[in-house]
Amino acid sequence: MDFVLEDGLVFVGSKLVPKSILVKDGKIAEIGQDLFSPKKIDCKSQIILPGLIDAHVHFRIPGAGQKEDWKTGSMAALAGGVTTVLDMPNNNPSCTTQVNLDQKEKIAGSDSQCNFGMHFGAANDNLEDLKTVQGAASFKVFLGSSTGNLLVTSEPVLKKIFSIAKKRNIVVTVHAEDEDIIKENTAKAKERGWNHARFHSKIRTCEAEAKSIEKALALQEEIGNKLHICHVSSKEGLELVKAAKENRENITCEVTPHHLFLSEDATEEIGNLAKMNPSLKSKEDVRALWKGIRKGIVDIVATDHAPHTLQEKQQEYWAAPSGVPGIETMLPLMLDAVNHEKLDLKRLIQLCCVKPAKIYNLRRGEIKVGSSADLVMVDLGAKQTVKNGTLQTKCNWSPFATWKLKGKVMRTFVNGRLE
Ligand code: DOR
Ligand code: ZN
Ligand code: ZN
Repeated sequence: MDFVLEDGLVFVGSKLVPKSILVKDGKIAEIGQDLFSPKKIDCKSQIILPGLIDAHVHFRIPGAGQKEDWKTGSMAALAGGVTTVLDMPNNNPSCTTQVNLDQKEKIAGSDSQCNFGMHFGAANDNLEDLKTVQGAASFKVFLGSSTGNLLVTSEPVLKKIFSIAKKRNIVVTVHAEDEDIIKENTAKAKERGWNHARFHSKIRTCEAEAKSIEKALALQEEIGNKLHICHVSSKEGLELVKAAKENRENITCEVTPHHLFLSEDATEEIGNLAKMNPSLKSKEDVRALWKGIRKGIVDIVATDHAPHTLQEKQQEYWAAPSGVPGIETMLPLMLDAVNHEKLDLKRLIQLCCVKPAKIYNLRRGEIKVGSSADLVMVDLGAKQTVKNGTLQTKCNWSPFATWKLKGKVMRTFVNGRLE
């Protein structure tokens, strides 16, 4: 159905202007004043932004539908103003073949309420698949083990993965934590009887991240492929990325809302609900990430939405899986940060819309005539409290529960749909 979003403050050409938007056949047909359509949606005192692109989510299908599925995950996306997601391949089975990718696409195609794409897993034994796979948003490499069994530690294999990516002009996305350091620290921790989430950052350390980022960057320098470092969590890690970017092209990086808004201290309060990989780091690291946001070192903010059930999280530290949901709270947190002048709306849109579209070649992320009507209406002055049990994500909890945020998602439109 066609409609007009009337009299909002619309984010076009990198600023807010009082305009209306005519949506026709799922596309933005006109941006202007006094536009006509039988269906009008009053947007007075509301802001209209491009729908967010979350380039890093774990919607858990196949293999872990008790945590999330495409219906609940995409509903959570819409509740958070996200209109496009890119899903990670650490499923069961992992998404490392064309057949698996096609199956995922089919399920998402029938269940998802938002636009989607799939990252493709690079493993030790699927180089041939990497050479031919169609429809991969990126080749995802786990340099340190996390949820699932994807892990590449062999240097020669890694070099081949980067080379195939270079040849095919596909970006390599990496989870950068050094497997040897993690293993060593895990053994020490067990010897000492450590058994609490407060020790997570002593196991998955800044050093583990930095060493792994360094390795990925060195290989990228040699091969020249596009490299995207996922969820940078430490000052040290970000400094390595910064130095590499000064020196050459084709390097981008991401930070998550949880690494921006929580520090390792959160583990004292919420225990395993603050256990994720990479771990939360110190307040100084958090400050460095914010500085990276402001200085343009950080390219994108993506959630690493990694739902696990509360029951799974309530086990003892070692048994509890790593990961936190985040897709519903990213935009409210970022709007709250805008209200607190930690960044401006222009930067927010670059981080969550424009740049992810650029990195992953999506023709979305901007409000302009002719593009898909992926839009989110937000009220920058509205307040809300994040509450467990009221969320769309199947796991229905948030590490930000009880947080009071100023800035609220009012309504989300995907491809001009009005539901
Ligand atoms: O905390 C994490 N959870 N880090 C990852 O790398 C994977 C993710 C998950 O899938 O649960
Ligand atoms: Zn990861
Ligand atoms: Zn992830």
